Amino acid sequence: MSWALTPLTEEQREIQRVAREFAEREIAPHSAQWDRDQYFEPALVRQLGDLGFLGMMIPEVYDGLGLDTLTYLVALEEIATVDASVAVMLSVHNSLPTQMILKWGSDKQKECFLKPMARGELLGAFALSEPEAGSDAAALRTQAVRDGNDWILNGTKAWVSSGTKGEVILAMARTDTPDDRRGARGISAFIVTPDLPGFSVGKKEDKMGLRASPTVQLHFSDMRVPGDRLLGQIGSGFIYAMQSLDNGRLGIAAQAVGIAEAALRAAAAYAAERKQFGKPIKEFQAIQFRLADMATRVASSRALLHAAATAKDRGERITQFSSMAKLQASEAAMWVTTQAIQIFGGYGYVTDYPVERLFRDAKVTELYEGTSEIQRIVIAREMYSHT
Ligand code: CAA
Repeated sequence: MSWALTPLTEEQREIQRVAREFAEREIAPHSAQWDRDQYFEPALVRQLGDLGFLGMMIPEVYDGLGLDTLTYLVALEEIATVDASVAVMLSVHNSLPTQMILKWGSDKQKECFLKPMARGELLGAFALSEPEAGSDAAALRTQAVRDGNDWILNGTKAWVSSGTKGEVILAMARTDTPDDRRGARGISAFIVTPDLPGFSVGKKEDKMGLRASPTVQLHFSDMRVPGDRLLGQIGSGFIYAMQSLDNGRLGIAAQAVGIAEAALRAAAAYAAERKQFGKPIKEFQAIQFRLADMATRVASSRALLHAAATAKDRGERITQFSSMAKLQASEAAMWVTTQAIQIFGGYGYVTDYPVERLFRDAKVTELYEGTSEIQRIVIAREMYSHT
């Protein structure tokens, strides 16, 4: 059912096949259990690294595969179709910390961090949000103060995906002073590693879905960060984070398309085998119409996502397109998984079948990397930004 609306090249189809086979062989047999146990399988990071999947869009000179955005998203969708928790680990790593170091990092930072990240030896995470700064990300309060060549960071970051496993964390902190607050322009980006004195992992969230992806708070308590860990320019960290989220939101859209595709496949298969009133329920028009609407929303989400990805690969500004793709795909995923449960009836409500997990996993795609409300704000603002 997973037809491509954008014709894929032979290389793209090959990477899609590799992703699908890996996901079905190494991940699918464990997904339900990992979800129940809230278990993150560390071996997967190395295995995905060996396939090159942790350096998909990093140029070969930095040990990556140097692929385009569309190829990366096609592979990501395949992984998400099987396990959305694994998909978010891949999405965050490939879209946010690695791309930030690639674009704004020094040669030394690329050597020390980007290359091992591309090889899958170091896993990346992204720390923007704080307990009091979610949608209003520029209100973050973590403070960085200079001390000789170093920076001293104090504060708490929240909702950090892969947070217990993240080995290279791109953290945003204020570098302006209380006497000279500069809003979004008072924020800088730092490369933080768990070995820094004063770093600790805080509360692990007990989530509704995506339970095999650890989401945590991080505490920085007089954390000493060497001066060469500042990324790019002082005061540009918020802009870097926003530009990177333009990419990140494509990854979350691909994750949402994968979840919806899985729900559609499961519902179509179940409707063919489940008999009521003497015939398979797929013979009833109520079920046919529901499946038709589900398939249409999956296909239109994928089409918008692929169009946004190819626009990015042409070098166009994709802020609006990326928010549209995420908004459309995440709301479609929530709707499609809800319909899947309806087709399964009571069986959709219990853990014997996968659709209740897909429904729980879908919800977060409307929340993280910007809620649906934030995506609408971005889309509306962009309508006027170039007039
Ligand atoms: N690209 C480049 N620059 C951008 C930009 C973009 N997409 N968006 C904003 N900027 C720039 C603006 O041009 C402005 O620059 P100047 O100082 O030069 O004017 C600056 O950033 C400030 O922008 P705004 O005035 O628009 O900022 P704002 O405070 O009004 O906020 C917002 C805008 C869109 C609401 C933003 O705060 C936002 O996206 N909020 C949601 C945050 C979010 O997505 N968080 C997710 C965190 S990650 C996560 O979910 C966890 C995970 O690990 C998966």
